[in-house]
Amino acid sequence: MTVDLDRSIVVNFKTYEQATGAKAVKLAGICDEVAEEAGANIVVAVQAVDIRAVAEAVSIPVFAQHIDPVKYGSSTGWILPEAVLEAGAVGTLISHSEHKLAVFDIEPRVNKARELGLTSIVCSGMESNEETIKETKEIAALKPDFIAAEPPDLIGGDVSVTTRPDLVRGVVEAVKEVDPDVSVLTGAGVKTGDDVHDALELGTRGVLLASGVTKAEDPKKALMDLCKGLE
Ligand code: G3P
Repeated sequence: MTVDLDRSIVVNFKTYEQATGAKAVKLAGICDEVAEEAGANIVVAVQAVDIRAVAEAVSIPVFAQHIDPVKYGSSTGWILPEAVLEAGAVGTLISHSEHKLAVFDIEPRVNKARELGLTSIVCSGMESNEETIKETKEIAALKPDFIAAEPPDLIGGDVSVTTRPDLVRGVVEAVKEVDPDVSVLTGAGVKTGDDVHDALELGTRGVLLASGVTKAEDPKKALMDLCKGLE
């Protein structure tokens, strides 16, 4: 079943120290609390080794950050999609900018996620708007559940992707042309409720973000503010 990501905030824990191991469980607990208090759709994407502990501790959806198209058996060191599902993940990121894959490597992962009922969020993002839109169209043709467009140069900074409305609108339009059933998220530099609001205004269903929450002095406060943009 596809996870409902309408008007949502997907918090990518990446490998931030503040979002690893016991701290991942604590931070996911904060996300869970805010989801409840703000009545918001919040998802956490955690490291593979943290999926089980986080999924047991919270009721919001937990995603993996990556899967590999390997089978049970001889695949040492790869991430078995069945294992993330069994650990409690209900979806997965695929081809995040920090773990980028070619389109032909994305396809088997999207197919495997679909087969197992894991909701897929495939990231897109190249140096220029044109290249990002081209890549996004190729990914949309694979029919993932979601595409999250993130310009790599804005990731981890304080300038929001929404300062590039042409890019966000362009991606939304491009995906609609290829497959209107694929939904669009966007991310990079999203730090405030206004950024979230603008992302929705530009036609996305929500945002994918990390440092605005993982590195915040007060993650609960930061997330509460981000949620205001969903209202
Ligand atoms: O996956 C989310 C991400 O790449 C954006 O990171 O820190 O700019 O919100 P950040």
